[in-house]
Amino acid sequence: MKIGVFDSGAGGLSVVKSLLEHKLFDEIIYYGDTARVPYGTKDQNTIIRYSLEALEFFNNFDIDLLITACNTVSAYALSDMNTQSRYPVYGVIESGVMAVEKQKIKKDDEILIIATRATIGSKSYQEALGNLGYSSITAIQTGLFVPMVEEGIFGGEILHATMKHYFSDVPEPKAIILGCTHFPLIGDTLQSYFKQKPLLIHSGEAIVEYLEARYDLSTRDKESKLKIFASDNVIGLRKIADNWLGRAIK
Ligand code: DGL
Repeated sequence: MKIGVFDSGAGGLSVVKSLLEHKLFDEIIYYGDTARVPYGTKDQNTIIRYSLEALEFFNNFDIDLLITACNTVSAYALSDMNTQSRYPVYGVIESGVMAVEKQKIKKDDEILIIATRATIGSKSYQEALGNLGYSSITAIQTGLFVPMVEEGIFGGEILHATMKHYFSDVPEPKAIILGCTHFPLIGDTLQSYFKQKPLLIHSGEAIVEYLEARYDLSTRDKESKLKIFASDNVIGLRKIADNWLGRAIK
């Protein structure tokens, strides 16, 4: 199978990393809208318009399905994208919520959701978890983590100070939903910030399980081919990919 992965920028490479590790697909076409990132600060109409424009990019490739790795896109544009595309489009929110259910998390355990302003504002995670009976949910927008990760800051004083800024009033979480593609990169730092090493719910791992349950996929003995495209500075994005994925990308 040949699949597409769409993100507002570089963050979706954290989802690609999981997809590559599981070797489920022949080819992955990645498109990051680096000219217009971040989406998480934009309003709903803009997020939908940008997401539908991204579909036009994927018309150049004969893909079997598309993953919108971006939580912000998943929160606002998924149904419009599905209406306008020939192939199924999967977001990462439903799979993320299902991943919570698979963990040993009790209904009254503290769950912390961190995401962009738009994703938190959509209440997508809060409502889906609330409908399943989870009762202790704290949702906070932590947009500053996005440019920090883009700058390659995955630990250290500045990140710690930013965590303190966001988390000083937050109850000790049992689990953290990494509701933004960039956040798996600071997962270790997040776990060590809190006293009780919270469980991390990661979009990439969650979408892999979700697709495995829906398609007849088996691990291939070859690496998936990966092609990376961007609306701006594709060379820069490929360099980030080399770094994050630990392999040379053309
Ligand atoms: N990719 C976005 C997400 O997962 C984060 C970056 C942005 O704001 O565009 O929500």
